[in-house]
Formats: sequence, structure tokens, C-alpha cells
Amino acid sequence: MGFQKLPGTQDFLPGSVERWQFVESKARDICRRFNFREIRTPIFESTELYQRSVGETTDVVEKEMYTFTDRGNRSVTLRPEGTAGVVRSFVENKLYGEPELTKLYYIGPMFRYERQQAGRYRQFHQFGVEALGAVDPALDAEVIALGYTFYTEVGLKGVSVEINSVGTPAVRAAFRDRLLEFLEPKRELLCKDCQSRIDRNPLRVLDCKVDQAHFEGAPSILDSLDEECRSHFKALKGHLMDMNIPFTINPRLVRGLDYYTHTAFEFKAEGIGAIDTIGGGGRYNGLVADIGGPDQPGVGLGLGLERTVILLEKQGVELDSLNGVDVYLVALGEAADREVTRLLHSLRLRGIAAERDYQGRKMKAQMKSADRLQVRFTAILGDDELQRGEISLKQMSTGEQRVVPLHELADVIIKASITNINNEGV
Ligand code: HAM
Repeated sequence: MGFQKLPGTQDFLPGSVERWQFVESKARDICRRFNFREIRTPIFESTELYQRSVGETTDVVEKEMYTFTDRGNRSVTLRPEGTAGVVRSFVENKLYGEPELTKLYYIGPMFRYERQQAGRYRQFHQFGVEALGAVDPALDAEVIALGYTFYTEVGLKGVSVEINSVGTPAVRAAFRDRLLEFLEPKRELLCKDCQSRIDRNPLRVLDCKVDQAHFEGAPSILDSLDEECRSHFKALKGHLMDMNIPFTINPRLVRGLDYYTHTAFEFKAEGIGAIDTIGGGGRYNGLVADIGGPDQPGVGLGLGLERTVILLEKQGVELDSLNGVDVYLVALGEAADREVTRLLHSLRLRGIAAERDYQGRKMKAQMKSADRLQVRFTAILGDDELQRGEISLKQMSTGEQRVVPLHELADVIIKASITNINNEGV
């Protein structure tokens, strides 16, 4: 009995949440270096925003949105992705009027009512970036480089980059006709999903994992590109090579959202059951205008953080740092107990992570607690020591114990931490 979390949601508990903090801090640091600034948009928006941007016939809009009518009789939707909200905000706040390009990033929860499987949740988290205001393919390459740098610096191995050009809407319409000519005679041979996709979004059929055997000799969108798309794609490849970002071209790569033009890309890695895509993105030159803004181009990406964290765990990647407790204070006696309260607070104000016992436990149990917390120091204060204005400090890694004047405790701990970091760095 009692309550349980809803299907497709997760609790991130102390012990594993540190990995999330690490991944998020890496994302922020990389954005700082690439000059992307944070934007925070609402977690729900009007349903129509997603219908217009993500596309009426996509799986996301047709089947996966958390949509409800609020008490003011508006149809609202929990954001299934981040791009639409950012673009809405870009238009509403007239960010396009500024002289510099708009380069934004976000980290936060997204919601899709999907079938549960490894790596697929109903509330999941994305790290996303959106760069608005330029058509330069160097910007597409920068976004891909940012994503690749993220995976590399969090320590993931075996991440590959696949790129494609999905052209302009006109290019896609022409390609669609060619593709339908190829697919129609095979309709009966294809899986159920593909049979329905042929009518709704035939480009996605080529992406099907089950039916690949039937697609030999299928037309390639890269042969249908017009001159502008072709030169954009060529320049993108050049920029990626200049930055030593390894990539492969996958002419069958089609993204699940409708707004893409020109560049589409995905990051892939093995190890999460049937899922191999861990992040993706692309250019969306028509999107800003489609939702009522000026004709401004954009390019961005969304990286799934659950998938990143799962792979980091599977690959056994160690965290650089655990934010543990520096010192555990043990009080022996009533007067010492009061002094420990004061001391604890003063250490914390000096930036030291400190803890004490609140359960009236014996010294032995308190020392056990310190061990469990993997503290670097234990400081023991008895009433005698208190009278002398001293405290005994034990360094847990060496077992070394010394007596330190009370007013020097913070300095000694800070100094020891600095020496420690320097030694580790050698
Ligand atoms: P997306 O491909 O729909 O793109 O999602 C990006 C990433 O979010 C996926 O590669 C995956 O890692 C993660 N993801 C998606 N759905 C789930 C789920 N149900 N459970 C766990 N992870 C999931 C977008 O959302 C675009 N907004 C990306 C973008 C930004 N394109 C341009 N700018």
C-alpha cells in the first residue's frame, strides 16, 4: 500500500544524484566556453505551440503529449521538448532585435507519454542549446562540436556522430515523391509502423530498424538536394573536419520532429537496450516564422541526460569528485556539546562541509557515522580540551592525530585540503 511514483518517472536519490550534478555542471561549463547563456522557460506552454512547431503528424504531437485543459479553459501541454518554448520566448521577448547572435542553453525536465523501456521515460531531462539568427554552417558545426565535447568531457566512450541534410521543405516534397515510387510496391512487406508512416511521413520509413533489408537501392535525399543545401552540407563537413570531430554521413537519418531544414544530426552509442540515439538536433530555418516571428534561422541540439547517466554507469566511469563531508565533530560532555554547535556553524561559514551527531549516540557510534560519511577528518572535543581551548583532529586516511587550537581548526582543515589537492595533481 501507500503511494508509488508514476510509471516512467524516477527519484534521483543521494548517492546517484551526484552523477547528475556532475553532468549538469559539465554542461554549464561547456556552454560558458562556447558562449551560450542560460534560458529558463516555463514547463508548460499552449498546446498549439507544439502542434505548430513539432508538427501535427509527428508521434510526439499525435500520441505522446501530456495535454490538459486548465481551469481557465486553455489547452496546455507539458513541454515534450525544449526548442519550441525557447523559440516562443525569442520571439515574445524580441531577442532577435539584439546585435549579437542569440545563443541559449537549457537543462530541465521534458514530458512524453511513451512506452516504457530502458532509456525511455515519461519525465526525462535534456541538456539543449539553440543558436538563433545566422545561417552560417559554421554555427551548425559549433553546435555539433559542443555536443561532442560534452560527451567527451563527461567521460563517455564510443559516441559517434551521424549527420545528414534533410534539405528545405521544397527539396523534401520532391524527394518524397521519388521515395513513394520506391516504397509503394513494397508496402505489404513492411512492418505495421512503416505501413502507416508511408502515408503520414514516408521519410521516416527509411529510419526503421526492422525493415532495413527492404531498402536496398532506395533513393537518397542527398541526391535530391538543391545547390544551396548541397553547399551548406559541404561547408558543414569541412568545419567538422577542421575541428577533428569524427562523423559519418547517414543519408537515412530523419529526425522525429518536423521543424528541421538542412542539417540533421544524431549522437549514437551502444549499451542502452534497443536504443542507440543519445542526442540529436539540427537546423530549423522556418520555425521562428512558423510560430509568428520574423524570418530568423536557428540551429540546436537536445541531449538526453538519462541516457548519458545510464551509459556513464554502464561504462564504469568514475566521478572526479564526490561532494562529501570534510569533517565530523564529536562532542564528549555537555559544555563540549554547546561548543560543537558553535564550531560546526563557524566551519560551515568558512566553506567547510561539516557534520555532527544529533541522536545522543556514544562516541563509538559517532565514529562509525564518520566512517560511513567517508569524512576526511574527525575532530573530537572533550570538556578538558575545551578548557584548554583545543580540539583533537584525526586525519582519517593516515590515522594521524594531533591537537589543534580551537580557533585554528578551520585554517588547518583548509590548508590540509589544499595540500591534498596539490599532491593528487602531481
Ligand atoms: P529529440 O531527438 O526528440 O530532439 O530528443 C533529444 C534527446 O532527448 C534524444 O536523443 C534522447 O536522448 C532524449 N529523449 C527523448 N525522448 C526521451 C524519453 N522518452 N526518455 C528519455 N530520453 C528521451 C529534441 O527534443 C529537439 N528539441 C532537439 C533540438 C534542439 N533540435 C534542435 N534544437
